[in-house]
Amino acid sequence: MDAYAADIEKVLVSAEEIQAKLAQMGEQITKDYTGKSLLLVGVLKGAFVVMADLSRQIGLPLEFDFMAVSSYGAATKTSGVVRILKDLDHDLKDRDVLIVEDIIDSGLTLKYLLKSLAGRKPASLEVAALLRKKGIQQVELDLRYVGFDIPNEFVVGYGLDFAERYRNLPYVGTLKPQAYEGL
Ligand code: PRP
Repeated sequence: MDAYAADIEKVLVSAEEIQAKLAQMGEQITKDYTGKSLLLVGVLKGAFVVMADLSRQIGLPLEFDFMAVSSYGAATKTSGVVRILKDLDHDLKDRDVLIVEDIIDSGLTLKYLLKSLAGRKPASLEVAALLRKKGIQQVELDLRYVGFDIPNEFVVGYGLDFAERYRNLPYVGTLKPQAYEGL
């Protein structure tokens, strides 16, 4: 596997830990959404990996949709206003929507998305996030499913990138300083 091994300083969450957590989360989601019309919404790009693995641990018929967002540039980042680059294909009205995220950092992206999607009148709207950085959320968020609380460090792998690389690592880790300098 590990074309990137030389760049990794330490592994924060191993591939085995991630898969075990997603199996638990999938089981809980299966119980919670039995009989409902579940729509998984992934926020590109990072969420595509957790979306693929988590969805295969959910024992229910379900549908997928994706959206792509970007913040309006550095100056307005803290305003939490995001621009929708690719909107959803599905109408959310009366659907049970579960947003799938790889990581919650400031929480601003999600806060904005929750508000925006709630306006489309889904039957329910919840969040499943694999990772949450400890103690740095700038907003209150009600997260139904959270995998791991991690320290406030820059992390890559399992969907998370640095300069678009490392998304295909099966674990989450930190980079050695020389890995930043090499690019
Ligand atoms: C990451 C992540 C979340 C967002 C969280 O995406 O996937 O969507 O940042 O940050 P916040 O909690 O501070 O708002 P990113 O902007 O890195 O894009 P990518 O998924 O395409 O790499």
